[in-house]
Amino acid sequence: MIPPRLIYKKGKLKVLDQRLLPHRVAYLTVRNAAQTAKAIKDMVLRGAPLIGCAAAWGFPLELRTRRPSSWKETLTLIKNAARIIKAARPTALALFYAADRMQEKAAAIIAGQKEFSPKKYRLLVRALEREAAKVTEEDRLACARMGALGADLLKKNSIVLTHCNAGALATMGIGTAVGVITEAHARDRIKHAYSSETRPYLQGARLTIWELQRSKVPSELITDNMAAHLMKTAGINAIIVGADRIAANGDTANKIGTYALAVLAGYHKIPFYVIAPTPTIDASLRTGEEIKIEERSSEEVTFINGRLVAPKGVRARHPGFDVTPAKLITAIVTEKGVIRPVNRASIKKQF
Ligand code: MRU
Repeated sequence: MIPPRLIYKKGKLKVLDQRLLPHRVAYLTVRNAAQTAKAIKDMVLRGAPLIGCAAAWGFPLELRTRRPSSWKETLTLIKNAARIIKAARPTALALFYAADRMQEKAAAIIAGQKEFSPKKYRLLVRALEREAAKVTEEDRLACARMGALGADLLKKNSIVLTHCNAGALATMGIGTAVGVITEAHARDRIKHAYSSETRPYLQGARLTIWELQRSKVPSELITDNMAAHLMKTAGINAIIVGADRIAANGDTANKIGTYALAVLAGYHKIPFYVIAPTPTIDASLRTGEEIKIEERSSEEVTFINGRLVAPKGVRARHPGFDVTPAKLITAIVTEKGVIRPVNRASIKKQF
């Protein structure tokens, strides 16, 4: 079993601290929007869908700490909370989807009110708690559906490779890419799974292989630079990854290194599957060129486990994500179905 990622109890959100995994299971408590945003920024929690769920909880948390005396003041508090939360990380659409949804829900409730009263304010907070719980539950259900649809794409004895962590730890359900692998394993279709370590933040080494081990999926960890060799020699049947944001034409932003895997998969004629819930698809962006790529600190590249591994003072580039062109993607699996081929028309059709 993978420990719960988020536990909400009135006024506080306990967040599984993924920075400590796989060695220690511990929780950090956040109590308002700023603390929620900081936990997202500092990678206490990560993975697009989970970031979205935490962002949703940030709103009732924030309002519980406040005592406004009018609806106007309440709306300002909500607007500020949305601004703080949206500034946490730029690439995963789920964060913006959840923040907009919570803001719209609150605005709709307030628009139906006449007089302000503390009792009505408390009812608003409860309604936002229910909405955040809904965001969470929708994610859990989407993962289960994508797991089933994705597992259908795999044949018995499949050998698969996944990148970063698109598992239970990145969602409130069984995960996206890893959910497909564990579901296919439950159906006896997985012979072997490879997880690439995912430099520089090591989500594959610290999180994915831990999940696969716990789910008893026969698996091995590889370093990122082993992927081409294994695609040539190990009989890999599918590459399965998650996504942070998908443009209207299917270009997909995911963890840095995904694009390289897609190029290699194309060369070796291995199917390349993206598994992502619909709040990942950004219909407002024509192509992947418009996706904002997060630049993270160079220390995350130059230090491993707190130890400097490069010359002192050296600067390092650290784009957190890259964009895989739609033409390299065999299919995108959402909770609504399988999009194949991946192009503007097929994506539009699913909606
Ligand atoms: O920087 P991270 O760890 O948040 O990046 C996570 C990924 O890139 C995942 O592949 C993506 O969010 C999909 S998670 C279901």
